[in-house]
Formats: sequence, structure tokens, C-alpha cells
Amino acid sequence: MPASVICGLQWGDEGKGKVTDLLAADVSIVVRYQGGDNAGHTVVIGDETFKLHLVPSGALHPHIQPIIGPGVVVNPRTLIEEIEMLESRGIEMSKLRVSAAAHVIMPYHVALDGARESAAGEEMIGTTKRGIGPAYGDRAWRTGIRMGDLLDPDLLRSRLGTALTEKNALLERAYGSRPFEFDSLFSDALSWGQRLNAYVTDTTRIVQDALARDEHLLFEGAQGTLLDLDHGTYPYVTSSNPIAGGACTGGGIGPRQITQVIGVLKAYSTRVGAGPMVTELDDEVGAHMVEVGREYGTTTGRRRRCGWLDFVPLRHAVQINSVSSIVLNKLDILSGLDEVKVCVGYRVDNEIVEEWPLSASVLERAAPLYESFEGWSQDIRECRSVDELPPAARRYVAAIEERAGVPVSHISVGPERTQTIEVSGALLGTASTP
Ligand code: GDP
Ligand code: IMO
Ligand code: MG
Repeated sequence: MPASVICGLQWGDEGKGKVTDLLAADVSIVVRYQGGDNAGHTVVIGDETFKLHLVPSGALHPHIQPIIGPGVVVNPRTLIEEIEMLESRGIEMSKLRVSAAAHVIMPYHVALDGARESAAGEEMIGTTKRGIGPAYGDRAWRTGIRMGDLLDPDLLRSRLGTALTEKNALLERAYGSRPFEFDSLFSDALSWGQRLNAYVTDTTRIVQDALARDEHLLFEGAQGTLLDLDHGTYPYVTSSNPIAGGACTGGGIGPRQITQVIGVLKAYSTRVGAGPMVTELDDEVGAHMVEVGREYGTTTGRRRRCGWLDFVPLRHAVQINSVSSIVLNKLDILSGLDEVKVCVGYRVDNEIVEEWPLSASVLERAAPLYESFEGWSQDIRECRSVDELPPAARRYVAAIEERAGVPVSHISVGPERTQTIEVSGALLGTASTP
């Protein structure tokens, strides 16, 4: 019963959407296991571009059953819009299923996220303001509303009544914001339930039954390891667990049912929002990454902070995700740079640090120690085999493989499905070849 997990190894936006779409060709079900519409996953098929926030990226294949698992927080309005957008573009959505246990992002969660960010001043996290933190907060505090609750008017009335009293007090008294009116919110929530009724079910049953039939399932993570609530740069993180382990709690699968973990890595680093990023570049190389890599957020349109690849968190990410293999994306963006650097350690308070420090304050004091590689000028977007890549690019990829200690299975050289190189073990050992 094969089950593969796809997760981001950096701060999100590594290209998980492209990889999920690519690998979905060979599976029957794709499950999103955490996050919400803070995610923005881009899939490019020919000259069509799809930007998905909640629906798993495998959904563009007609044979795929897309599932939104219990670990996802769902904004019903975003989901309805996304279903309608996909259907208007000819993508059949009738097989979509949403866990009845997934928590609902209510409008007051969105309002609280925005209000708290505005009030935080310099301490703001730089969230996507989609209500993610407040919705997961309510889940942990057991005051949340679940997708299944939208289908039960009596239960919804009682849970919404209790929640709203508290939220309105917070909004009005702590933030001076406008309260929400019960009747209109209740009627909106009921209408979302009616619209989504056919999709809401026990998705864990579907997952387990498919595994029992020996079908191959793919679990798609959102965000990335360094944004993980427990393993990232807290408090500059999201409110869920993007790491592969999150697929168990959020997808409805046991740890021993996972047979493969595919770590998605961008050939350089990007980060949106606040928080330390040791290799961030404010120079023309950083500008090259932003402009050539089109590093603007899929969800919020914000300019992504860019910098060199950092091996320090990469080793940490490979370990805690128990990565089987890496898909390396956006190698084409580094073409044209004279030299390409990777960070191999930090200098912190005059000491060399090679292990990922969990404390954001240690990272804020860290200066990068770089190793330099020869760059390449050749346009690699049409390369379809490792042999066609320039030797300098091959050495760079081989160095990543060597440091990460796991094979690079695919190299992506463009956003389109076909702009992908399948690696067949030819890279290992070429890192030190001149
Ligand atoms: P995700 O959130 O991890 O799914 O990543 P995003 O979709 O937010 O950001 C990745 C962006 O890079 C998207 O616009 C993709 O279409 C694009 N992309 C993915 N792989 C490649 C690649 O190898 N080369 C180039 N040039 N773009 C890529
Ligand atoms: P995908 O799935 C990049 C970041 C936000 C902020 C922090 C917390 O497309 O890779 P939140 O709204 O989650 O409370 O914000 O997390 N963030 C992302 N950064 N890609 C994402 O998703 C992100 N989702 C959240 O910018 O720093
Ligand atoms: Mg994204």
C-alpha cells in the first residue's frame, strides 16, 4: 500500500504544486493534509496556469480523487470560489471530498488575524491574513467549528453562538474592531454547508480503504519545514505542521503506512513575511532571483525575500521529514550568475554553528559562511537529461545531493510539467569533479 508524502524543505513556495501535479499522474488520490488558503500552489500545463489554495494540486488530472484532509483549515468561501473557478475551466470537481473534521475559517478568524497583525507593530509575523492562526487556535482550544457542523443547524447555532460572544468581545475590546452579527453569520454558514454538502464526509475512511486496496496515494503538504509550528523559526511560523509527520495527523494515515517522503527544494532560498533568513541578499543577485524567478507571492502578491541556498536547515529538514529523495526546482533561475554560493555554517557570537538553531534570536545574530561554486551561463530550460546540463550545474546539484545525504530524483528547469529532468543516479559522486 504505497503512500508518498510531498513536503517543502524551506519556507514554502518551493514548487510543491508543480511536483504534486507531476507525480499525481501515477496515483489515484491526492490529499492535502494541513494549512489553509494561506497556501498558493501553481501548476502550469501548456499555456494554462492554475493557482490553487485549497484544492490539492493533483486535481487537474481527471483520474485523481482530490481530498482535503482533517488537518486543513477551510475557508468555505475560498473553497466554493476555487471549485467554481476549476469547473469553469473544465476541471471536473465531483470527486472532491472534504473532511467533516476539518476546521472552518470563519470571518472573525480573518478579522482577528488582521487586527492582531496591525496591533503587533514591529513584532508582526507577516501572516497572509487569512485567519489561519486564529482558526487553528480555536481548534486547539476546542471552540472551533468543523466542516461537518455546517450541515447541522442546531449544532451550528449553539457552537457559533458560544464562539461569537467571545470573538466579538475580543474584536471590540482588544482591537476596537467591528463585531459580527449572529444572524447573518449563521445564515452565511448554513448556505456554505448547503453548497458544500455533497463534498463533506469522513475522508480518513476513503484514505484507509484505498490503502487497503493497495492504491497509491499522494499527500501534499503546504508551506514548508522552516514554517512548521514546532520545528521552524517560532514565532515566525505558520500554525500547523507542514513536515511529513503532519500527513499522519492531518491526512489520516499512520506513520508505518508512509512508504516515501519527497522533499521539495528550491535551488535558492525564499521567504515571505517576517523572521530570520541568514542567507538573504539585498544586492543585485537577490534582485536577479526576484525578477528572473518571479518571486512574488501566489496568495498575497508580496515580494519574496531571496538568498542563497542554506545547507544548515537543509540537513535538519532532511532528518525531521525522513526525506527519501529530493526534487530540486528552479535550477534554471540560477543560469547567468558568475558564481553560485551555498551556506555551509553560521558564525554566531564568534562561534561556528553547523547545526540548525531552533531559536529565532540565535538565527538573527548569525552570519553566513559560504562555499562558492562556478556559475553557468547556458539557458537550461530545454534540458531534459542530466547529460544536457552544463558541468557547473551538475556539480551544484551533486553538492546538494552529497550534503543532504539523499538522492535528487528530479530537477526542474521551468514551471511547465514537461520542463523536468528525471535523474537516474548519474549525479552521485560528481560534486568534486573539476
Ligand atoms: P508552492 O507553493 O510550493 O507550490 O510554490 P509556488 O507555486 O508558490 O511557487 C513556485 C513558482 O515557481 C510557481 O510560479 C511555479 O510555476 C514556478 N516554478 C516551479 N518550478 C519551476 C522551475 O523549475 N523553474 C521555474 N522557472 N519556475 C518554476
Ligand atoms: P505555500 O503552500 C510561503 C508564511 C507567511 C508568514 C507565516 C505565517 O504556497 O508554500 P500564516 O498566514 O500561515 O499565519 O502566516 O507563514 N506563509 C507562507 N509562505 N508559502 C506559503 O504557502 C505560506 N503560507 C504561509 O508569509 O510568514
Ligand atoms: Mg506557494
